[in-house]
Order: sequence, then C-alpha cells, then structure tokens
Amino acid sequence: MAYQILCMVGGISRNSLNLKLFRALEGNLSERCSLDLFPIQDLPFFSQDLEMDPPAIVGDFKERIEKSQALLFVTPEYNRSIPGVLKNAVDWGSRPAGKNTWARKPAGILGASAGNIGTFGAQQHLRQVLGALGVRVMLQPEIYLNGSKAFGDQGQLIDDYVKGMLQKYAQGYISWIQENMRTSVEAAHRS
Ligand SMILES: Cc1cc2nc3c(=O)[nH]c(=O)nc-3n(C[C@H](O)[C@H](O)[C@H](O)COP(=O)(O)O)c2cc1C
Repeated sequence: MAYQILCMVGGISRNSLNLKLFRALEGNLSERCSLDLFPIQDLPFFSQDLEMDPPAIVGDFKERIEKSQALLFVTPEYNRSIPGVLKNAVDWGSRPAGKNTWARKPAGILGASAGNIGTFGAQQHLRQVLGALGVRVMLQPEIYLNGSKAFGDQGQLIDDYVKGMLQKYAQGYISWIQENMRTSVEAAHRS
C-alpha cells in the first residue's frame, strides 16, 4: 500500500531550491508513497470573511489534507521564518474554528536556503505553529540544507552527501508514518 502524502513547498519561484529538494526526496519516497504536491500559491489570502463560504480551491485543499495519511513541508527561510505563502496555507487548513484539518497527522519538515543557516530558523517556527495545531512532526532526522551548490543546471541533485542524507530522511519518514499509524490503531482499540 502506498501512503498518501500531502506535500507543500514554500518556495514558489521557477528555480526554487526547495522545489528541487522536494523532487530529489520524491525519488526516495516514490516506491512507498503517493506524493500529492498542492499548489499553495493558488490559495487566496486567508480572511475570516471567506472562511465560512470559501472558494472551491480551499475545499479541495482541506479535502486533500483529510485524505492524506501524512504531510510533508519543504520550506525556504524568509527573514528567519517561513514564507507567507506557506503560513497562509497552514492557516486555511486550521479553519474554521473546530475544523482544524491538520490535527494528528504525522509530518516531516525539511528545507534549503542559499546560506549556511539552512532554514533552521524557518523550520523551528514551523514546528511551533504545527505543534499548536496538533501535527505530529518527526523529530529526527533533520535536514537544514545550504542548497547553493547542491543542484546542477537541470535542477538535479549533484551532492553525494546530500543524496545520502535524503535516503536516511526518507527511511525515517516512512518509519514515522508507520509508528503513528500503529499508535493511532492502538489508541482506537483502547477507547
Ligand atoms: C524575503 C527573503 C528573505 C530571506 N531571508 C532569508 C533568511 O532569513 N535566511 C536565509 O538563509 N535565507 C534567506 N533568504 C534567501 C533564501 O534562502 C533564498 O532566496 C532561497 O533560494 C529561497 O528558497 P527557494 O529558492 O526555494 O525559493 C531570503 C530570501 C528572501 C526573498
């Protein structure tokens, strides 16, 4: 059985390092997972005026979150935090009140920046936000990538060390999904 994964990439430029990182990880996950990359840039800006009767794309987004067995966030760092487009998506998934679609989903976070900080600040912020929404974010392995030299002209990953890191990350991520599914079943049996 392939796990259904809802994926969000916070870099929306044509040459996004994070989209390249996502594509490189995808190769390690594709045997076990079906990856659904949602175009978060197409979501409108969140407004409480819209949340009770939102545009169709919001319903589609929340439905795809609900159907997923796990989440994957690949984020750049903007001014020591996550880009607004990703926060906007997280906010949509959390609303309206009482309809937080993220809760209890296992998730992985990783990211690439053009500098040595490697999205550490962004990922810590995202962990804080997702924690408040009840998302079960994987603790280890972590990937904070300086992606400035990791990819070739065609966007392909050319750094062997990073290739190894992504393999380990993929193994850890699959185990995290399995562990969460097992504990959910056990909790259901107890209740
Ligand atoms: C508004 C803005 C703020 C940024 N702030 C940071 C930062 O705090 N830390 C960092 O390492 N890089 C920062 N960068 C550089 C990004 O790491 C770099 O643009 C990266 O390529 C963005 O990811 P992407 O290619 O997936 O869009 C910033 C870039 C922009 C446009």
